Amino acid sequence: MMKKNVNRRNFIQTASLAAAGFYVMPFFASCKSDTSTRHPETVNKMDKDFIADLDLQLTALPSQTSIYPNSSTKTYSYKASIIKGSEDNLQNIEGSYLGPVIRVKKGDKVRVRYENQIPAESIVHWHGLHVSHENDGHPEHVISEGETYYYEFEVMNRAGTYWFHPHPHKHTGEQVYKGLAGLFIVSDKEEGKLNLPQGEYDIPVVIQDRTFNDNKQLQYLGDGEMDRMQGFLGEQILINGKIDNTLNLGANGKYRLRLLNGSNSRAYKLAWDNGEPITVFGVDGGLLEAPKKLPYLILGPAQRVDVWLDLSQQSENSRIKLVHLPIPLDMMGGGMMNGGMMGNSSSNHLPYDTQFDILEINVGAFAENNAQLPGELSSFNTLAATDAINKDNPRTFTFAMGGMMEWTINGRTYNGTEVAEEETVKLDTTEIWRINNGNQFSSDPDDDSGMMGGGMHGNGGMMGGQGGMGNMMQMPHPVHIHQLQFNILNRNADKVDDKLWEATKDGFINEGWQDSVYLLPGMQMDLIMRFEDYKGLFLYHCHNLEHEDMGMMRNFKIV
Ligand code: C2O
Ligand code: CU
Ligand code: CU
Repeated sequence: MMKKNVNRRNFIQTASLAAAGFYVMPFFASCKSDTSTRHPETVNKMDKDFIADLDLQLTALPSQTSIYPNSSTKTYSYKASIIKGSEDNLQNIEGSYLGPVIRVKKGDKVRVRYENQIPAESIVHWHGLHVSHENDGHPEHVISEGETYYYEFEVMNRAGTYWFHPHPHKHTGEQVYKGLAGLFIVSDKEEGKLNLPQGEYDIPVVIQDRTFNDNKQLQYLGDGEMDRMQGFLGEQILINGKIDNTLNLGANGKYRLRLLNGSNSRAYKLAWDNGEPITVFGVDGGLLEAPKKLPYLILGPAQRVDVWLDLSQQSENSRIKLVHLPIPLDMMGGGMMNGGMMGNSSSNHLPYDTQFDILEINVGAFAENNAQLPGELSSFNTLAATDAINKDNPRTFTFAMGGMMEWTINGRTYNGTEVAEEETVKLDTTEIWRINNGNQFSSDPDDDSGMMGGGMHGNGGMMGGQGGMGNMMQMPHPVHIHQLQFNILNRNADKVDDKLWEATKDGFINEGWQDSVYLLPGMQMDLIMRFEDYKGLFLYHCHNLEHEDMGMMRNFKIV
């Protein structure tokens, strides 16, 4: 365990940040957060014996971003500076509220001195990284404005695109929405031997949806409760924090696009507008064994993919677009709840069931590079069902609406460090977790976690003929497990609405190592994972951030 010792940073450090060009708004800076739910013993201090390869100061602070020309939008930002390391470790996205891209090598020892300068409790989570409990950014570790939390960990993950964002209970959605997120890119020797695109040919593409009011300020949840139930949906797409979604790339270039769906709750059905398939060669936890071509790609919240883009067939001055294709999801998530029994939403968010642009690529002057996408990318052993200690009786977690009109996991909501018996696993074991979206897979008549989720299906038929009230309250849930990368054993869509499945079935990737999966209403997935190296409490939750904030999040404990 780490020791308690809150380091209250002094004014000089804040001032030097401001002098370095980061504008700290006086109004926010003087407004103290009031509530404290923090367990003081979890606030740690720096370990002088930890010799870091990369030592970073990372500060979360109120910022002003010129998202629209001639106006300034109030945002939050992560700003970083290097205490030890090289220039290559940090890549700022100019003019964006997003945090810097942190680039490290597998095996690097990383210290992050996270300083909270936003007027609210917060903590940073390293999404996808295999780290200890103390380094995972548990909500119980939140620090107040002015405090610092020290992370010290070795990067054990494979090369891949990971990311970081806040994780305070009840406020993750709001803080990510205001701008707190960044990419954490890991490279390793295996990937380094491949001749993949590098430098200016390796491009982060963070996709988010946002809504602005008339004063060009970010507007979070419009209609309160209803928007929270379905999760925030924005009116406009931002790429890397910008409303200009154009990338100017060079003819004949070969590019690696690192896509992150950094949206609070929205999923995308991504396709090239010229009808070419999408070539994906990496997922959450790094390279696939071989590239995969898909007619379109379903990218749920928190998921990452590496997309190969070869512009050698494109003439100079042409353009290609990445678009969202229609999915019949509005009735599931929004329509039913908004227009139906639960009152109207004021939101004019982009409907799922329509096509809109995500990214526009302008092909500029010739810029050849000799990168290649080999047919064999990486070799690894995936986990086998026969290795799981519970292969005949998978641990089952049902993500559904509970009786109190709240989103639950096995009927429970988040409650601090609480962990149930069925959420306790053993170190150095391999397990299968069966994740259900909705209660319809339950065979136990006593397993009824409430009338909305459990009891009332079987009649009705408003949702493609298979549900009553229970199914009407179903929504997709992007499920994420902390601390590890899993393999997907099975994706069962038998109970998914036919039209919805028809529109999405060719866009899922079941290969490789993943930490986040997108479950349509009625979907069931078997995930296989191994608990290694670290005991302690870790989270699993819905990565629809509004669902997460409402409590669709639980601990699992490795003992
Ligand atoms: Cu990206 Cu616990 O989340
Ligand atoms: Cu995570
Ligand atoms: Cu959810």
